[in-house]
Amino acid sequence: MPYMRAMPDKRVTREASTTRLILYAGKGGVGKTTIAASTAARAAARGHRTLVVSTDIAHSLGDVLQADLGNDPRQVGERLFAQEINVLEEARRSWGKVQTHMADFLRKEGVPDVQADELAIMPGMEEVAALVQIGRMLRSGQYDCVVVDAAPTGETIRLLSMPESFLWYAGRFQAWRGRLMRYVGPFLRGALPDLNIIDVMGALAHRIRDLRGALTDARYSSYRIVVTPNSMVLKEARRAETYLNLFGYPVDAVILNRILPPQPAGNLYIDAMTASQDRALMEITQSFATIPIFRAPLSADEPLGVAALEALGCEVFGDRDPTEVMHVGPSQQVEKQEHGYLLRIPIPNVEIDRLSLTKRGDELYVDVGNVRREVTLPNALATLEPGTARMRDGMLEIPFGIMATDVAANIGS
Ligand SMILES: Nc1ncnc2c1ncn2[C@@H]1O[C@H](COP(=O)(O)OP(=O)(O)OP(=O)(O)O)[C@@H](O)[C@H]1O
Ligand SMILES: [Mg+2]
Repeated sequence: MPYMRAMPDKRVTREASTTRLILYAGKGGVGKTTIAASTAARAAARGHRTLVVSTDIAHSLGDVLQADLGNDPRQVGERLFAQEINVLEEARRSWGKVQTHMADFLRKEGVPDVQADELAIMPGMEEVAALVQIGRMLRSGQYDCVVVDAAPTGETIRLLSMPESFLWYAGRFQAWRGRLMRYVGPFLRGALPDLNIIDVMGALAHRIRDLRGALTDARYSSYRIVVTPNSMVLKEARRAETYLNLFGYPVDAVILNRILPPQPAGNLYIDAMTASQDRALMEITQSFATIPIFRAPLSADEPLGVAALEALGCEVFGDRDPTEVMHVGPSQQVEKQEHGYLLRIPIPNVEIDRLSLTKRGDELYVDVGNVRREVTLPNALATLEPGTARMRDGMLEIPFGIMATDVAANIGS
């Protein structure tokens, strides 16, 4: 393979913060890898230096591109690079040292061996490592566009909620360490691990905060949901949209994959399939009313290899550049009202009974099922109490005012 292992020209760099990020999410098997690779192939053909990267532990990007991929980017076509992140390896690389020192530290504090090892394992390390790696690629300045082929919805939500969870964990750890330092004298302090965990954690928290900023910047980062015309898939797609919005990740398109091309009527089986597809298409169009929908036909052969993928990309995006920001939706807003403020958070398609709110100081916790988003409230709202929240036009509206009486907000309709 002529392009293997070559790296892009490092002299030609571009301001890292302007690197485009496109992440494909969706239910298992809908075609995320195929569409991500098609988008990348098409972007490269249009002149963008493009990297397509898989964060799925069960990689299939190499199979789809028909190339042997590894943990570092490899060139698979003109201006086209691909990478399968080995998340476990990345986690070891980023965390190995921290984890060892953390375990040592806990042991010195009298925590028994096994428990110390156990406690030192931070939740979601693999996800954080994968994100850090994506962040590294975005900052490298070597690519105009990074396309992420993510794991099925549940894991992707875990991946994308990780910056918040990590920052929470780092914050708590820091507070706990601070308290401890007050009790131990200067002598014991010297016995703490050589590597200052607090510094490492602090630096990492800083990087994660920056990364979260980049990942939620609608000018450069977009999240696209892949669906097939099938109602189970649609349900999960709605859930994906809800969670992406909850964490402030801008969704700019829906890709409707595997559409059966028009068939001549007369065959009972094909007619039934077409009718079922039409119903699903209508439901999908209604569900994602404001988000542009792109269509990808079901091809007779699996689209494998760069040429076939680029051809599919052409069918999906037509004349449009696949790296364009296709849509910018509403973001979190605070409106001044007569007796206070109205905080509006976009959470379309949310199942109302799965949503609950708690406020603590300037932090508002929005829980959807077992996923939690921590919203830091602007100063103006931090001292006020939230009233009864309600959903309107895909936005969660929470009034804040001196007049509001309900401390823990309830969800109204
Ligand atoms: N438009 C299409 N026409 C024909 N075959 C397709 C199309 N899109 C995807 N496929 C095929 O469907 C299968 C699943 O696609 P793909 O691996 O891209 O899905 P995925 O969402 O990434 O799956 P997973 O969740 O397992 O990662 C593959 O065999 C792929 O070649
Ligand atoms: Mg896949």
